[in-house]
Amino acid sequence: MTVLVLGGAGYIGSHTVYELIDLGEDVVVADNLQTGHIEAIHSKARFYKGDIRDKEFLDNIFKNEKIDAVIHFAANSLVGESMTNPLKYYDNNLFGTMILLKSMLEHNVDKIVFSSTAAVYGEPEKIPIFENDNTMPTNTYGETKLSMEKMFKWVSKANGLKYVSLRYFNACGAHASGNIGEDHTPETHLIPLVLQVPLKKRKYISVFGNDYETPDGTCIRDYVHVTDLAYAHISAVDYLKHGGDNNIFNLGNGCGFSVLEVIEAAKKVTGYDIPVEISPRRAGDPAKLVASSDKAKTILHWTPKYGSLEKIIESAWIWHKNHPSGFLS
Ligand code: UFG
Repeated sequence: MTVLVLGGAGYIGSHTVYELIDLGEDVVVADNLQTGHIEAIHSKARFYKGDIRDKEFLDNIFKNEKIDAVIHFAANSLVGESMTNPLKYYDNNLFGTMILLKSMLEHNVDKIVFSSTAAVYGEPEKIPIFENDNTMPTNTYGETKLSMEKMFKWVSKANGLKYVSLRYFNACGAHASGNIGEDHTPETHLIPLVLQVPLKKRKYISVFGNDYETPDGTCIRDYVHVTDLAYAHISAVDYLKHGGDNNIFNLGNGCGFSVLEVIEAAKKVTGYDIPVEISPRRAGDPAKLVASSDKAKTILHWTPKYGSLEKIIESAWIWHKNHPSGFLS
């Protein structure tokens, strides 16, 4: 089977490519390298540099390669940036996906697995969050991802496209080989920022708010290892290949950890003290986000291997320690 991974040089995309190649699949990567890293692309994948908004670029890939399924990670994903520059998100995420679907239809490629997000739910009404709970995004990023899901739904009705949408919670950790890991500029995610303290790149970690309605007052999130996310994408491709119908799945570990618990776990893993500074709340942060992933476990037979927060942080620590400047190290 040949799988086209759009955004295969990015964080979750590159980890998925590694797992696909480990399984002996034929992989084509397309990435504009705007946020992805050429060093993250597996040497056994065939790489096309370009942008999904460029239809000729996509047409050329579909002409050259016999693609059986697409895994689509190529999107902008910074919540804060999406609020100051919403049109960037409509352009890359929504318009880009529209061009992609046009090209797929023209080349009779009818299977797509899509990287969606917990941000589609907005402020949840109850925990854990189920796939059929209300979707009320509180930021442009989540809104564009939800609109992309809907685009698949309507194109499916009209043109027979088959899709799986994977709504992930907090992706983290790094590949067991130590070759690839998280490298965002700017970095906004909690775990890599916490690990910058023992790396002597920052003196303390700012905790955004300690007055939430949670046991220790800090936000609770569901942290899920990037390799476990990669497995879910592969299971989803398999599910579609075997005639599975359009579907949406949450991907999380089903247990929540507070910001202070993450910092405690990072202290244990690294053996360093990690000073904390309490800062004001960050706009748009829900108090608690925890997934029910029962549906993915039942239907996709997804079995996350990294259940423990410490194991997740350990894998991230190995990557960051050996690559203090990310892929430039
Ligand atoms: N946090 C801090 N200090 C920091 C960074 C983060 O206290 O320096 C806190 C945040 O306020 C939040 C938690 O740590 O409570 C996790 O924050 P992240 O930025 O790591 O992750 P988010 O939960 O904000 O975002 C994640 C994904 C997004 C997705 C969102 C869905 O990274 O892509 O979940 O709500 F949109």
